[in-house]
Amino acid sequence: MGEIISKETQLIVHHSESDLDLNTQKLIKRAKEAASNAYAKYSDFLVGAALLLDDGTVVIGNNQENACYPAGLCAERVAFFAAKSQYPNALIEKVAVVARRRQDEHFNGAAPCGSCRQVMAEYEENQGKAIELYLLTAEGKVYQSESIENLLPFKFSESVLNGK
Ligand code: THU
Repeated sequence: MGEIISKETQLIVHHSESDLDLNTQKLIKRAKEAASNAYAKYSDFLVGAALLLDDGTVVIGNNQENACYPAGLCAERVAFFAAKSQYPNALIEKVAVVARRRQDEHFNGAAPCGSCRQVMAEYEENQGKAIELYLLTAEGKVYQSESIENLLPFKFSESVLNGK
């Protein structure tokens, strides 16, 4: 039998938003506001992401859908691409992601899709510093991941491309 060598994803659970530090609570609030402005006319599934940069700047994104479905983009990638295009040299410290159905008051737990994990992991590796991730769950809890890598073990990365 072989030996297990890949790491398991580990999440910290906070029982409510109020257990978090104020900066993170504010970031989640910004993600909720961003979700309300999602262009999600086909799924009515509203997702918001808010990034905190090292200079305190918050960059938000929300899902942008399209009549040609695959042309749309998730909230996380909208936020990360906005941040990296406007603040190419800033460090991304944390990201909060929230999601809800349009008709619902309460938020659902939405874990970032594989493509968003890949995009976030790219920038995390490039900046050489972990990006913390916070997700609201359907029960009002908050899941915290210490890094993106933690959500995407055995990821595809630059080292595979250049053989280093
Ligand atoms: N979506 C996101 O924006 N982020 C996620 O983490 C999961 C899914 C969006 C894509 C699409 O607009 C809608 O949610 C339904 O999949």
